[in-house]
Amino acid sequence: MIIEPEKTSPCISHAANVVEQRNVRRNEFEIVLEAPEIANAALPGQFVMVVTGEGYGFEHRRPFSLFRADPETGRVSILYLARGIFTQDLAQKLPGDSVQLLGPLGTHFDTRADERIAIIASGGIGAPPLCFLARRLLEMPQPLRPERVIAICGARSSDYLVGVTELCSLGAEVDIVTDDGSEGAQGTVPEHLERLLKRYPEVTAAGVRVYGCGPMPMLLALTNVCERYGVTGQISIEAPMHCGVGQCDSCLIPVVGRDGKGPIRACVDGPVLPIGTYCWETPATP
Ligand SMILES: Cc1cc2nc3c(=O)[nH]c(=O)nc-3n(C[C@H](O)[C@H](O)[C@H](O)COP(=O)(O)OP(=O)(O)OC[C@H]3O[C@@H](n4cnc5c(N)ncnc54)[C@H](O)[C@@H]3O)c2cc1C
Ligand code: FES
Repeated sequence: MIIEPEKTSPCISHAANVVEQRNVRRNEFEIVLEAPEIANAALPGQFVMVVTGEGYGFEHRRPFSLFRADPETGRVSILYLARGIFTQDLAQKLPGDSVQLLGPLGTHFDTRADERIAIIASGGIGAPPLCFLARRLLEMPQPLRPERVIAICGARSSDYLVGVTELCSLGAEVDIVTDDGSEGAQGTVPEHLERLLKRYPEVTAAGVRVYGCGPMPMLLALTNVCERYGVTGQISIEAPMHCGVGQCDSCLIPVVGRDGKGPIRACVDGPVLPIGTYCWETPATP
């Protein structure tokens, strides 16, 4: 099935010129694109469908979170790991080339004015939307700006860590954890979150907010920790997405909401969901 995005979604579809292709670290790349309407409208947590080939067939498109969106320059960027066919193709794009972007899509992170500590918990390629969020949080004027923005960056090993360079340069306090201990502390992101929540007993649960993005098993464990400690927040879920605009059901997530409704579509009901609003019927893995 081929979906023409202009006919199925009110969001914007554009040819976006490549401004820069930057190798950040190992196989981590940032591609900067000229897309003024998206740059103007996008909020942290939203994503774009990127189309690199001819036409809009599902085989040519993938979802990517927005890493930057700057209304002043009209530019957006995507941070990605060059791994498989699509991302290696994306890494070949150079200034002068263009790709098609559809977006901004999906729900976004909300920031509460009263959080004293924002904890950003990222697993692997979950980092880019959280970097966008951290930038917005750290740019907030006082007294809205959180006193501390702590980032837990996790991955199965050092090679899969994403966003560390950016989060450090933004001024977040960065803790690295890897499953195999190849960089930072050995362990998982939810384990480290629990250690942090224990370490700051003076901060009431109402003063901490957790923002998570990463693989589903990590998000489920993270949600459990937050619920045990009475901490609120939001998670951004990863799911296979073919159309990105609620038309194909490839992103159905087996959850039941407090209102009894479910399942949900990650592309239009998410990707950002409040912690504690949904019950997972089965631990889903994308
Ligand atoms: C909301 C959202 C935001 C994301 N943001 C980022 C980001 O910021 N940075 C980043 O690096 N990655 C992000 N991803 C993942 C990204 O969309 C790609 O899935 C990933 O980069 C894999 O690319 P690849 O070149 O390794 O896969 P390929 O080698 O092209 O594909 C491998 C196989 O997996 C299938 N496949 C892979 N991904 C998807 C998908 N998403 N939907 C359906 N089928 C798929 C392909 O059909 C193929 O069979 C995001 C995913 C989602 C859902
Ligand atoms: S990706 Fe098609 S319905 Fe969500």
